[in-house]
Amino acid sequence: MSNSTIGIGLLGMGVVGTEVARNLVLKAGRLAQQAGVTLELKGVVVRDVSRIRDSAVPARLITADARAVVDDPGVQVVVELMGGLRPAYDYIRMALSQGKHVVTANKEALATYGSELVGLAEERQVSLLYEASAGGGIPIIGPLHKDLLANETSSIHAIINGTTNYILTRMSQEGTSFQEALVQAQELGYAEADPTNDIEGTDAAYKLAILSSLAFHTPVTGGDVYREGISRLAAVDFRYAGELGYAIKLLAIARREDSALSLRVHPCLVPQEHLLAKVDGVFNAIEVEGDLVGRVVFHGRGAGPKPTASAVLGDILEAARSIAEGRKPPRRAALDNGLRMLPIHDLVTQYYFRVTVADRAGVLAKIATVLGDLNISIASVIQKASDEASQTAELVIMTHPAREAHVREAVGRMRGLDEMVEVSNVLRVEGRV
Ligand code: HSE
Repeated sequence: MSNSTIGIGLLGMGVVGTEVARNLVLKAGRLAQQAGVTLELKGVVVRDVSRIRDSAVPARLITADARAVVDDPGVQVVVELMGGLRPAYDYIRMALSQGKHVVTANKEALATYGSELVGLAEERQVSLLYEASAGGGIPIIGPLHKDLLANETSSIHAIINGTTNYILTRMSQEGTSFQEALVQAQELGYAEADPTNDIEGTDAAYKLAILSSLAFHTPVTGGDVYREGISRLAAVDFRYAGELGYAIKLLAIARREDSALSLRVHPCLVPQEHLLAKVDGVFNAIEVEGDLVGRVVFHGRGAGPKPTASAVLGDILEAARSIAEGRKPPRRAALDNGLRMLPIHDLVTQYYFRVTVADRAGVLAKIATVLGDLNISIASVIQKASDEASQTAELVIMTHPAREAHVREAVGRMRGLDEMVEVSNVLRVEGRV
């Protein structure tokens, strides 16, 4: 095979795959200029060949036979955009084993088998490129591999799920319930019919695992990330948080604590002045803090066909250039920092409690005793609403930094108080701006 033409095999033709295929066909001249070599789409794998496809993509290229495309000797770069763990992971492995370069957006495969796949690519001296796997069109994998490499990273704070950020923005701006906002997101095509992976934080946990492996030079899998979703949030939490000067965001947080790494995805109170508090709708943002660079924020469209295709096509061009120039892909920095994962119980942060209690003398003193006994210092207490009919009151309690294990114990003890009607919500606060 001459190095003046590079054969591309595309696995998957959903919205992102279609956009990538269209660009490979319609922008072939421009891409050839950028790559210094012609890129030829050799095959596109779909599940159902009878479905009507984008007319820009020649029908003769479309097949259901993934093995035939991966094994085609004319295909040097396999682009995996099927999503899901299997069979996508098997095809990535097959392609790398055959010495083919792989471009993928598959966060689940990378967050589960990333170390193995990177090892296989290095052994076969081929590229494994995955800029589109986290943050959609936002360049973040490339900067972590190269531009920020000299830094000791201390933290990542990120909004890396557009669906949940859209839902939270609607709840915050319009006072809608979680269910209403979810339905709106589904009607607009932002949330999938089964939105579980997004709303439970699984998608963000995969992405945080990928980013943290690179930033902290330690292998991290999705299972290492503590995770809570957004379905417990109520419109009233947004109102109270707003009155206290906070937004509520689903944050993906990785923080280095000496030789350990704290990794978590959960809803969080964020000061309204913080850049991340201002990231609304389907947008994503990733803040990285390093010892040399300080804090840098990457912001943009974290999903959608065009932004994601932008990242995928950038990776295809990089793979094509290295093939055309006969270059071996650069060896990636070793993941040898050996950081251990910090259990969520050892987290120390501030907390917001929303509780409903019997509106009687002495209740506050009992709650203060529960918290004080567990070394949880109260920063403020506000009585938000009293209900004359039921003789109950809603309290919002903000704490100073406290240990998560103590907070969980306190919730149990508060639930045991006769006067406690309900511990309605407990949220963590990321205080630093
Ligand atoms: N479902 C993801 C999101 C997009 O809502 O951000 C793909 O990573």
